[in-house]
Amino acid sequence: MRKKVTVVGGGNVGANCALRIAGKELADVVLVDIVEGMPQGKALDILQSGPVEGYDVMVTGSNDYGPTENSDIVIITAGFPRKPGMSRDDLLMANYEIVKKATEEAVRHSPNAFLILVTNPLDAMCWVAYQISKFSRNRVMGMAGVLDTARYRTFLAMELGVSVESISALVMGGHGDTMVPLPRLTTVGGIPLPELLPKEKIDAIVQRTRDGGAEIVKLLKTGSAYYAPSAAAVEMAESILKDKKKVLPCAAYLEGEYGLNGLFVGVPVKIGAGGIEKIYELSLNDEERAQLQKSANAVQELIGVLKEKAGL
Ligand code: LAC
Repeated sequence: MRKKVTVVGGGNVGANCALRIAGKELADVVLVDIVEGMPQGKALDILQSGPVEGYDVMVTGSNDYGPTENSDIVIITAGFPRKPGMSRDDLLMANYEIVKKATEEAVRHSPNAFLILVTNPLDAMCWVAYQISKFSRNRVMGMAGVLDTARYRTFLAMELGVSVESISALVMGGHGDTMVPLPRLTTVGGIPLPELLPKEKIDAIVQRTRDGGAEIVKLLKTGSAYYAPSAAAVEMAESILKDKKKVLPCAAYLEGEYGLNGLFVGVPVKIGAGGIEKIYELSLNDEERAQLQKSANAVQELIGVLKEKAGL
């Protein structure tokens, strides 16, 4: 049987997820959005690229969840994007309502699916989907670390004048201003990064990575990034669908790992046919651990707001 992926939200991130999934022939795709005609129109347009691009999967658009029945994966991208000057956290309550409804509907129609969250503020939205779906923690995950790491790798490659493919790296923590890029564990063709760049240069790249989303929001003026975010979400989906067992930084529900409990935060995980099959707990030095704790505190604060305002 063919695999099926539902993408909730037909905006730029969602539509590009659908396009990439179709382009890689990973699965049939159902694009869901509340705007009448929009997901249908985009789906048809993506479908009609197939004869030219040479892919052959079904792409359907819908305003309801009927056609999403029995999806293997549901990628939730629906929500408001940031405007210039806004932080991801400013979107909390508005996007909570959207993610709550999307999760309820998605889970009702696809009780065996894996959920990949993309909506911001990412780590808090993962927590919402986890609470609402009541799925086990291997089946709910968030896309952030792959994107943040991709930005970090891009900036390093630009600075060093080397291929991005030679840069192996990891950004942990929440998808926010407190995310934790880890230069100590970054290698360039196997060479530790601190041997190649002075600390000031590395610090500047770490900061640009933290501000990576805002940099694009500021340039675009309307909306936020979507090419790299969709690429990152689809890498996670592909690793599940093909049981690739890639080790990727993803938002995962922690139950004691890194001394953190009851929240989602970005950590290295193994992703395969079982979803999050393993959470890697690597040893951090004191400074890194403090940074991760600070980032987790920022996520915990949002969860506190959700508990208070939404009674979750
Ligand atoms: C970004 C948004 C999608 O980082 O969070 O670009």
